[in-house]
Amino acid sequence: MTQELQPLVRDFAGCALPDQPADPYEALLMRFKQDALPVTVLWELTHKCNLDCIMCYNVSLAQPELSTAECFDVLDQLAEAGTLYLSLTGGEILSRRDFFEIAERARTLGFALSLKTNGTLITPEKADRIAALSPLRVDISLLGATDKTFDAIAGSKDTLRRVVRGVKLLQERGVRVKLFSLMMDLNLAEREQMVELVAELGVDYEQGFKISTADDGSSKATEHQLDREQITDLIGQDQMAFDLRTVTPATRTCSVSLSSCLISPYGDVLPCIELRIPGGNIRQRRFIDIWNNGGIFKQLRSRHTMKNLPECHVCPINRYCEGRCSGLAWKEHGDLYGGHSLACSQAQARFAQIHPNQMIPETPLQARLRRGEITLVEPTNGQPIVLVDSFVAEPRPQMSLVA
Ligand SMILES: C[S@@+](CC[C@H](N)C(=O)[O-])C[C@H]1O[C@@H](n2cnc3c(N)ncnc32)[C@H](O)[C@@H]1O
Ligand code: SF4
Ligand code: SF4
Repeated sequence: MTQELQPLVRDFAGCALPDQPADPYEALLMRFKQDALPVTVLWELTHKCNLDCIMCYNVSLAQPELSTAECFDVLDQLAEAGTLYLSLTGGEILSRRDFFEIAERARTLGFALSLKTNGTLITPEKADRIAALSPLRVDISLLGATDKTFDAIAGSKDTLRRVVRGVKLLQERGVRVKLFSLMMDLNLAEREQMVELVAELGVDYEQGFKISTADDGSSKATEHQLDREQITDLIGQDQMAFDLRTVTPATRTCSVSLSSCLISPYGDVLPCIELRIPGGNIRQRRFIDIWNNGGIFKQLRSRHTMKNLPECHVCPINRYCEGRCSGLAWKEHGDLYGGHSLACSQAQARFAQIHPNQMIPETPLQARLRRGEITLVEPTNGQPIVLVDSFVAEPRPQMSLVA
């Protein structure tokens, strides 16, 4: 099962779909996608949290969150709809008093569970109950390697010690834990220290740098995004082999609406954490009806192939692009079918890693931005967005020598 989790995690990350899956599990997932089954559901049980992270994308709405009874009904509906993998997240799941009631019922119904928590509320008793759920994995955030940095990001005290305690309590009970560090301007200097800390703990680990815009569209989160130079450095240190993608008109760039979706604490059924356009609300319609017939789901399902992404289709570096996300494209310039600046920077960094002496091509999106044909505006106030990345046609000087 642990290996089976890998493609699932890649789905949640919104990565490109393989055109021809090599192994049987990938082939099975592909089949689920062809049949458009809601196999994996990410469920934000609450937006309440005991921490107040500076970059958190969650924005609480002035609406009641789903009650325990409503959550039980959602679980029954998901089981009927064929969902297999359920990932419970927040906010902070452990800040919901009925968390274990909901999670235990989910296990009784047979879902494979994974949990996302900040780890600070894990006590020995809670660790026992988490272990009894036999989760596939518990994901915990590690946002710094020192108290000073972690506390400053999390808006709390003693965060690092509490997170490490939570990790150890789960480890002692045989629960598989994975730490995840969102790399930002605020914690980049502690990157190596975090790697060392995790090596001491002996758990799985991943670092990422894709910062999502806050749910209200404001740039409070993205202002901590690493710039292109920093992303290029990080990708340059990445020892993972990168396979160039095969891009055909039928290639899909992500799995939203094909096999996965998100449920918000208020019952909205959404394509994913980035694309906060509801297909419907579970308080008014059955989950399966929203999944099958919700406008955004139908639109993405029928049109979301490369041939319908005019810029990405002709982009000279689309084979290097691993992070294009329709939600980020929509948030950045209101176009579900466009590219977006972070994916372009990331693709350029991959290109530079693989061809260190070649000029870095400009993407069609960057060209349009440079010509002033698109203005990025803040959705909340209509003000032009100042990009952290400077889009220039010329390659960086050290990359400009052609071999
Ligand atoms: C919203 S949190 C919920 C789970 C739990 N409270 C935690 O912090 O791990 C889920 C994940 O999103 C990450 N995250 C928070 N704000 C983010 C942002 N603006 N962009 C990308 N990831 C973000 C967190 O670091 C965490 O790994
Ligand atoms: S712990 Fe998680 S949900 Fe809470 S503020 Fe931090 S990122 Fe957001
Ligand atoms: S335009 Fe940007 S987002 Fe689209 S394929 Fe090219 S690099 Fe990726």
